[in-house]
Amino acid sequence: MTLLADELKQAAAEKALELVQDGTLVGLGSGTTARYFTEGVARLVAQGMKIRGVPTSRATAELAASLGIPIVTELVGQIDLAVDGADEVDPALNLIKGRGGALFREKLVAAASKRFVVVVDESKLVNELGQGVLPVEVLPFLWRSTAERLAGLGLSLVVRGGEETPYVTDNGNLILDVTVAGGIKQPGEFAMELKKVTGVVEHGLFVGMTDTVIVAGPDGPKAVGRLSGGAVARPTPAHGTDASADARDRPS
Ligand code: 5RP
Repeated sequence: MTLLADELKQAAAEKALELVQDGTLVGLGSGTTARYFTEGVARLVAQGMKIRGVPTSRATAELAASLGIPIVTELVGQIDLAVDGADEVDPALNLIKGRGGALFREKLVAAASKRFVVVVDESKLVNELGQGVLPVEVLPFLWRSTAERLAGLGLSLVVRGGEETPYVTDNGNLILDVTVAGGIKQPGEFAMELKKVTGVVEHGLFVGMTDTVIVAGPDGPKAVGRLSGGAVARPTPAHGTDASADARDRPS
């Protein structure tokens, strides 16, 4: 039987729900896969579990509120577990995120979490990041100058939504969708290079942040990384692991 992409996304999200316990403060991701997770959390809340959510976008906040999940926006301490989707996942569990536009809050939530779990269907697995665009969130003020600085790094880019009616993020910023010719060879170094560009608010490279990826394929969902306490060997990266500023942002 061929499983539809939506069924795979749902299977991955349902597997991640096994990690949610009574009292968990959970980061709620954005996008179609994360939506299944939020819906599952709502079921647990309806069953009486005391779970609160930190949403990664206004859309997720509205969804969570409509489903009866108590929302936390002023965080003190750490989030227990964040679960989110991704656009691309490489063998070292580095990610591209943000094609749904929520990358900045998604990264904030992941960085504030003790454990960051990514839920994807197998179509998101790549040998090397950069197969599609890399979203970069930039300040609207003098954004053309920021775009020129990025182009100066040899990148080609487009304004999401077009210059006439640009897409505006929940933070009031623009997204430049960047294409890296030939793929992203060293995600950690590239992430730091992007972060240094004046006008760049955040980018969609998540390097060294992921604890577990739950991948759903025809044989069911499989976890890579750590799932439940016991250490599971990560897959050998196809092309080098990079230490990154993102990873250093994570609390120990
Ligand atoms: C939004 C994201 C999403 O998690 C990513 O785009 C994956 O979305 P989907 O599960 O719908 O494929 O990063 O900013």
